[in-house]
Amino acid sequence: MKKSILSFVLLLFVLIMQAQNINLLPPVKTGGKPFFEVVNERHSERTFVKREMPLQTLSNLLWVANGFNRPDKRTVPTGSNRQEMELYVVCDTGIYFYNAKQHLLEFIAKGDFKDALGQPNISNNAAVSIVMVADLDKSSIESARMSSGYISQNIYLFAASEELGTVARGSFKKDDLSKVLQLKPNQSVILVQPAGYLK
Ligand SMILES: Cc1cc2nc3c(=O)[nH]c(=O)nc-3n(C[C@H](O)[C@H](O)[C@H](O)COP(=O)(O)O)c2cc1C
Repeated sequence: MKKSILSFVLLLFVLIMQAQNINLLPPVKTGGKPFFEVVNERHSERTFVKREMPLQTLSNLLWVANGFNRPDKRTVPTGSNRQEMELYVVCDTGIYFYNAKQHLLEFIAKGDFKDALGQPNISNNAAVSIVMVADLDKSSIESARMSSGYISQNIYLFAASEELGTVARGSFKKDDLSKVLQLKPNQSVILVQPAGYLK
């Protein structure tokens, strides 16, 4: 009896936690594989082994991808410093917005929305899929596509350093994704990039 009450309380705790913002851990800004090794090992992977990503790894990944490395500027360049790109994270339990300034995951929706990502053979076993979203009030779609390339490459290099798998995905269900991410008309999904484990 005592055990089942404890299990229920634990389940309730897990469910409540899933429907809340997640404070990311401060990114680790030292170490990693040497730069030339990382460039040499950069490649696309599409087959992942299902495994949860530790919070520290996710924190580092998001910071590398599009975090702030100076008070008002980021790890990736943007034309005229417009900073038009923001990231959303789709994982097994829900969808979050990466608030880069606060280095925080803001809860958007609870549930499994991986179907909206398309290419289920790739998406289903990835630990997370990062969705790159442009604010087209801040820049043109052409600039946003270039900016996404920088974010994508940072993710590729991080993956090579951490021995994770990743692949840039230009093929995704744009309408479905826009709906589940609750995007406004000025926001457009540019690229999707899963990251996951190879073993
Ligand atoms: C803009 C862009 C869109 C891409 N879209 C997809 C995609 O939808 N699905 C996929 O499996 N790979 C996609 N890729 C990955 C490429 O197929 C891959 O980079 C290419 O085959 C070279 O392999 P490599 O990354 O291992 O060097 C995309 C890559 C880029 C840069």
